[in-house]
Amino acid sequence: MIHILVIHGPNLQLLGTRQPSVYGRQDLESINRQLRQQASQAGVGLTIVQSNHEGQIVELIGRAKRTSQALVINPAAYTHTSVAVRDAIEAAGIPAVEVHLSNIYARESFRHQSLIAPVCRGQVSGFGAASYRLGLEAAIELARAAEPQPPARSASRPRRSAATSRRRH
Ligand code: DQA
Repeated sequence: MIHILVIHGPNLQLLGTRQPSVYGRQDLESINRQLRQQASQAGVGLTIVQSNHEGQIVELIGRAKRTSQALVINPAAYTHTSVAVRDAIEAAGIPAVEVHLSNIYARESFRHQSLIAPVCRGQVSGFGAASYRLGLEAAIELARAAEPQPPARSASRPRRSAATSRRRH
């Protein structure tokens, strides 16, 4: 079974009350409930973690290499500062999708640079809680595409139907 890790970075535990005009009124638990439902409908396993600690995020990503086939990450403020998170994603080697609730390119200039984006397969930014839904959808597709395919059956000649065989006797 495909397993996906979702990481919420620093301060995202405050969603719902933190700058609702920027991040919306939906709290983190409600976003997580929707993600769990989406994952169960798609038949994939999900682990969701929120952390305010860069080192812990680095360790989670390091472990994901063995436990998960894709990563969805909202690195929050670490998006703009963390070479350590970037290096961890690159080293893990599993497909990663960066998500942001707000459109980071329409905000202060220090948010316009993501150190994480170059090591992710793509980025979803600016759709509120829907950024996570779209990000998880992309991660599921990436994980499925990377799954080892069963060996192709040899291209043998089509078997004759019983009716055809009988006619020849
Ligand atoms: C954020 C954008 C970041 O710039 C900010 O530091 C956050 C949240 C977002 O989801 O829009 O904490 O990642």
